[in-house]
Amino acid sequence: MKRGFLLAALVFAACTGRAAPSVAPPDTTAASSSSLATATSTASEPVEPSPGEAGLGDSLYPQLGNGGYDIEHYALDLDFADGVLIGTARLTLRATEPLSSFYLDFSGLDVSSVSVDEQPAAFETAKELLIRPARPLTAGRVASVRIDYEGTPGAVVNFAGRFPVGWHESLDGWFALSEPGGAERWFPSNNHPSDKATFSMRITVPDGLVAVSSGVLEGTESIDGQVTYLWELDDPAAPYLVALAIGDFERREDESAGGVPIVNYFDSDLDVADLSIFDRQPEMIDFFAGLFGPYPFNEYGALVLDTVQAPAALETQTRSTFGTQILVLGEPVVAHELGHQWFGDSVSVADWGDIWLNEGFATYAQWLWTEHSGGPAALAAEVVAGYKTMAGASLIESTGSEAAAYELARASFPPPGSPSADDLFSQSVYVRGGLTLHALRLELGDRRFFELLESWATDHRHGNATTRDFLDLVGLAGGAEARGLMEAWLFSPDLPPIDELNLRPPS
Ligand code: ARG
Ligand code: ZN
Repeated sequence: MKRGFLLAALVFAACTGRAAPSVAPPDTTAASSSSLATATSTASEPVEPSPGEAGLGDSLYPQLGNGGYDIEHYALDLDFADGVLIGTARLTLRATEPLSSFYLDFSGLDVSSVSVDEQPAAFETAKELLIRPARPLTAGRVASVRIDYEGTPGAVVNFAGRFPVGWHESLDGWFALSEPGGAERWFPSNNHPSDKATFSMRITVPDGLVAVSSGVLEGTESIDGQVTYLWELDDPAAPYLVALAIGDFERREDESAGGVPIVNYFDSDLDVADLSIFDRQPEMIDFFAGLFGPYPFNEYGALVLDTVQAPAALETQTRSTFGTQILVLGEPVVAHELGHQWFGDSVSVADWGDIWLNEGFATYAQWLWTEHSGGPAALAAEVVAGYKTMAGASLIESTGSEAAAYELARASFPPPGSPSADDLFSQSVYVRGGLTLHALRLELGDRRFFELLESWATDHRHGNATTRDFLDLVGLAGGAEARGLMEAWLFSPDLPPIDELNLRPPS
């Protein structure tokens, strides 16, 4: 994965002096508990409307998302010119409990008015947007919430990673990169992967600029020196996975042999040679569809930016976003983001603490592509290199011995099943997460392993899943032994051995 960050990651992890995490799987059910109030109310005892919570109780980021409702659809009308964003967001939401008020995750822009079902609503802006409808919402009620806003969008400190998230300037335009919390900087949302919704976007920019988002481009409208791009995302997406870029892009269309339309947007200033890493996307899609089940959306593509602001890629739904510097990683990063469309985008986490279900699976998808294009030895080399990194290979010189390096590695690479909130994208989540799946493959054999991967993608398609769901599936496929093996890989401070490749931690 992101080899360029390894050093920074190591330095960062080493400085935090994190304590060894416990081996028990964390409770990841908190995100769904907010709907319990509805289930326990009865017709004879009406529940008094009360304020919705300002967070969903996520195990890593309790403040993300909001309680008391589910969003079904976002219609965003965004007008961006001269650095100013003028937005109208129309949200269709269903109250899951009687609500006197509720929150949306939104910050940094000025709200001018809010209405609920066309009635003006009182609102407050502080860290989030608090809305008090003229009349409380009854449980089960579908409401239409309109928010008008305006301002100069920007980025917000990223509590989970190494660079700010939200709205950024590129060399010839602007873009959003939102994982995990940045969406609040450009539209109001229930900003948590457990509440996925469909999106319609009208994005208006001055003539000469192109506005790219997730989904399918339904058309463009030109009036008075401005052009409006109409994007439709009709499978549910988590807010952080909605792509947005405004700039000078070339649209390039392709199609996989299996019939998946591919629509890439490449910044016009980029070197054609650097873009050749996307040539095999059609073949990759069909390869992954053969392993994981049909591609989950109706279109795919790459959105490649000309920027030095974000040394990363993000699996934005239907159209993955790539910063310029990440392109040096080549085809593996292209396969990684594509793999996320099944694992992360279609099957989403219900709690950020289960991030390895995104990153471990995408890393393994990337390794499967390496195996497909380079043969079994290429996969083995990847696994061996990943294992050695996790065992502290790069720390031997500074610590003086393999054993001392491993001691330090144990602190730097906490087990992937229990990441810390300030290091969501740790090397362990990616690399040990990928090794976890390789260990499962060796335990189950190829036939049962690939059946399991396809079941995982199929059973939770367009939904949410937890590490517990994964362990249950492993238990069904491979019994208690396979489940125990997975628990050790995910939660034990020690690195389990891979005997087949003669890999074990230094003693
Ligand atoms: N999910 C992205 C990927 O692995 C990583 C995003 C990194 N973002 C960050 N803020 N550090 O493809
Ligand atoms: Zn990833």
